Amino acid sequence: MNLLHVDNIVAGYGPLTILHGVSLAVDEGEIVCVLGANGAGKSTLLRAVSRLIPLAAGTISFRGKSLARVRPHQAAAMGISHVPEGRGIFGNLTVAENLTLATFASHTSGAPRVSKVYETFPVLGQRRGQLASTLSGGEQQMLAIGRAIVSDGDLFVLDEPSMGLSPLFVKSVFSIISEINKQGKTVLVVEQNATMALSHSHRAYVLENGKIVAEGTSREIARDERIKKAYLG
Ligand SMILES: Nc1ncnc2c1ncn2[C@@H]1O[C@H](COP(=O)(O)OP(=O)(O)OP(=O)(O)O)[C@@H](O)[C@H]1O
Ligand SMILES: [Mg+2]
Repeated sequence: MNLLHVDNIVAGYGPLTILHGVSLAVDEGEIVCVLGANGAGKSTLLRAVSRLIPLAAGTISFRGKSLARVRPHQAAAMGISHVPEGRGIFGNLTVAENLTLATFASHTSGAPRVSKVYETFPVLGQRRGQLASTLSGGEQQMLAIGRAIVSDGDLFVLDEPSMGLSPLFVKSVFSIISEINKQGKTVLVVEQNATMALSHSHRAYVLENGKIVAEGTSREIARDERIKKAYLG
């Protein structure tokens, strides 16, 4: 059974349809990436998965359970940890308060995982009393991933984790994603940085204009001539 199964979904914003029958599956233990140009519908797809937007057609199931009637906070409680594009942190709260809030999304005690976040990202430990809005872009990204670590979902849904980060930091974010995966978490990640995403994932899908146009192992996708031209430069 797939951990996440997206079957032929149609979704968008009001009368505007963005996803035209998208299907994908993520198995337990995988890192699956979705590549696509600006405006392809990648964030919309992730919003549909974490139930932030309604479906006009199709189904999404998580551990075999339909998410049709599930509200976003319930999806989080079921184990879907969404790190949105633009990071979704609370700017007027401190680093520590942002992490404490994330413990409420989990049914287990979050305190040990807050310490784990400070171990993974020592800079956050040093800045735990600082308002999140005053962190640098990279630090905000660490905090956003830290919140997902604290909420301890089984599926990490990451929207462009490398956005706005310097090349060195992009590398460390992806090694942290691999590390989280080795510790048993499944990851669905959307990325503009195709080279980085393909070298750190097991399988990949390519989304164009709201439709999946290619899928395969990340190795196969990285070798595909058309994809190389369009996404790998
Ligand atoms: N709240 C919204 N209301 C109306 N249209 C929206 C909304 N959010 C996104 N869109 C439109 O939906 C389309 C897909 O957007 P989406 O954010 O899913 O793309 P994306 O693949 O994530 O792009 P990017 O790489 O730039 O983040 C775009 O044309 C966008 O303008
Ligand atoms: Mg996006």
